[in-house]
Parts: sequence; C-alpha cells; structure tokens
Amino acid sequence: MKVNAGLVGFGTIGAGVVRLLSEHAEMLKLRSGIEISISRIVDIDIERDRGVKTDGIIMSKDYNDILNDKDIDIVIELVGGTTIAYDIVKKSLAAKKHVVTANKALLYAHGEDIFGVAVKNKRHLRFEASVAGGIPIIKVITESLAGDRIRTIYGIVNGTTNFILTKMYDEKWDFASALKKAQELGFAELDPSLDINGGDATHKLGILATVAFNASVDRRNISTNGIQNIDIRDMLYANELGYIIKLLAIAKQGNSHMELRVHPTLIPKKCSLASVANEYNAIRLESDFLGVSHYIGKGAGANPTATAVVSDITDLAMEVRHGKEYNPNRYSPFNQYRTIRYTDFESRFYLRINTYERPGILATITKIFGEHNISISSVMQKEVHPDQSIPIIFLTHRAREKDLREAVAIIDTLDIIREKTVVFHVEDILS
Ligand code: HSE
Repeated sequence: MKVNAGLVGFGTIGAGVVRLLSEHAEMLKLRSGIEISISRIVDIDIERDRGVKTDGIIMSKDYNDILNDKDIDIVIELVGGTTIAYDIVKKSLAAKKHVVTANKALLYAHGEDIFGVAVKNKRHLRFEASVAGGIPIIKVITESLAGDRIRTIYGIVNGTTNFILTKMYDEKWDFASALKKAQELGFAELDPSLDINGGDATHKLGILATVAFNASVDRRNISTNGIQNIDIRDMLYANELGYIIKLLAIAKQGNSHMELRVHPTLIPKKCSLASVANEYNAIRLESDFLGVSHYIGKGAGANPTATAVVSDITDLAMEVRHGKEYNPNRYSPFNQYRTIRYTDFESRFYLRINTYERPGILATITKIFGEHNISISSVMQKEVHPDQSIPIIFLTHRAREKDLREAVAIIDTLDIIREKTVVFHVEDILS
C-alpha cells in the first residue's frame, strides 16, 4: 500500500525529510509495510536547489494544492511561525488530513485550539520534532511511559544555547562567535533572540508539561530567563564550587500544581546532564515506577529533526493503513493542575555580590538575608580585582524566590555594592 504526504515548507528541515525518505525508502517500506511518498511540495521558492532529489514530486506555491488533493492523507507543516502555519494546520485537519508539525511556537501559542480542531475532525496531529529535535521524547512520554506518572522533568532543550555555553566555557569563544557558528550550522531560529532569551525552551517546556502531566499550562506563570547575562566569571566560580551552568527547562508536578521555569541553572558537574555538550539535548525524567531515566541526542539540525518528522509520518501512515479507534485523550489536558507563580517557587540560589573592600560587609549582607528567611550554605570570597571590587559568592539553602528577590533588591541599593548582584538557580540533581 502507498500513502501520500504533502510537505509545506521546503527549508532546511523539509529538505532533510525529503532526503531521509528518499535514501531510506526501501528500508522504511520493509519495516512499515507501507510505501510512504511525498507527492507534493509547497514553498514560496520552488526554484532553489536544496541538494535533494525531487523527481516525481509536484512542486507549487499554494498550500491549497495539497488541501485539495484527495490522494494526500498527511500534511507536513514545516513553515514555522504562528500565522500562515496556524492556517495550514487548522485547514488541513478540517480537510480530514492528519498533520505532522515541528512547530513549537505554534503549539505553545495555539495548541489547545488546534487539538480541538483535530479531535472534532477525528484526525491526528503529531509533533515529535517540536521538542528536543531527534530525541523521541514525546513518544517516550505518551507511549513507553503511558502507565507511569511523571513527576519531574529537567531538560536541556535548546541546542543553540547549549552550543554557545559549551564553546564559551570549554573553548573560550566569545558569545557572538559562538552564536554565529550556531546559526551557520542551522541550529538557531530565524530570530535567534528566541533561543538566547529562553523563549524557544519555554515553548518546548510548555509542550512537554502538557503532554507529561495532561494539564493545561498557564503561560503567564512560566518563568523564563535566557543566557544573555551569563558571564564567564560565573562559569568559573560555579566550577570551583563543583557545578556547571546549563540552560534548563524545569517542570515539577505536585499533587494539584505545576512549577514551570526556564533559566540558567547550576547543576553538579557529576550529574548526567552536565556532560551534555554542544547542540545535544537531554531530558531527565523522574516517574513513579521507572524512577529516573535519561534521553540524550541531537536537538537541532536538519538530519536529527528529520528523523522525528519521519517517525511521525510513519505512525500516521500506519494509522491511514490500519485505522484504529480514534482516541481523543492522548494529549488532552484532563488534569486540573494550577501553574504556580515563579515568586512562590523554592530553590537554592547562587549569588555573586560585588562589593568594595570595607570592614563589616559580610555582616551587613547576611543580616539582610536573615531578615528575609534566607539561610546561607556556603560563602566564597575572591581576591580583590584590579578595579578594587571584591566578588563574594554565596550559595543559599532552599529559599522562596520572592524573598530572595526582595533581599537582593535591598542589597543592590547599599553603597558598598559595585555592580548589580548576579543570581542563578541551583538544582542539586543527583544522577
Ligand atoms: N533553535 C532550536 C534549538 C532548534 O537551537 O534548539 C531546534 O528546535
């Protein structure tokens, strides 16, 4: 049997999908028992050579050509963005076609609406490539761990920022050169500020949390911070304390609430996530029956992402071929968990307080901490810098973020402070 798919968006990932399907066609046919073919491609530019074979594929510029083609059962949306892609996905589902997308921004902004259209039309929407590129994490959560209850997710889910942090720390590149290279390698978003400021990781976290906890996330209460303010000095001080700084997406589920945040985080150098470098992504899950499990692989780039898209296409081709009973609940938010505001989170913190050399400074600072219920676990005072400033590094015990922020706001008004205090979260991940 043959199943036809139509591809909208013939960019880097689209070309990767066409290449994979053509190079592995025979193997895929043997494994799935189905001949999967891309019969149409739609893009605004149908002239440019992408270096892949498109023989026999009808190329055009209007996505309605795919919607109106009765022989196409699956639409692959790789346009990106939240405007045209939104129309394409909804109209494809309404036209009774299954949809595969890699579009995390779209799912984050309009996921519930789009899934509503999918359920109404009894069609499937698959999105494996939207989170962590080539790592089959959506399948793990929804299939392999269908019977388990996930409590905690720690993820390195943005390849660009992991690449930049690795190059800055391991190879002493500057930020701009590392970003430029990540762009050249095709990891970064068209607008790389989405990578840098943590927005892309937040989109992925929202998707992961919805799927893992079957709950709607309240986007207003997700705390997001990117890598824009990471200074190499803090990477070095963290190292002295036994930590490495990674941009983490974190989701924790309590009995009736969720805590969702993206920020640079100090994690122990000995834990598995610490050794995940360059564009590699990693997800660490904690679930009731399995316990801790790790999933590591390339999170960006044409080929890794294409494997996830093709996995979804293959699943849907099987669906077209064998047609199981439609299950509307696979990704649905049937749990009512509240997303708590970041100010109520508790965490350990790293602080670099930059002062002048004066007697009594430590006493002044620790008094303010004490007044805000913040307990110190260690202090490290560094040598006087040539500009006469002294960095003092504090690690706190668990404290409420609201209290910590209030204390830092007061500390930063003191005349002994030379530079705004630097604050990072600390997560003592054990394995
Ligand atoms: N810009 C994204 C990243 C691409 O760097 O991870 C994959 O989603």
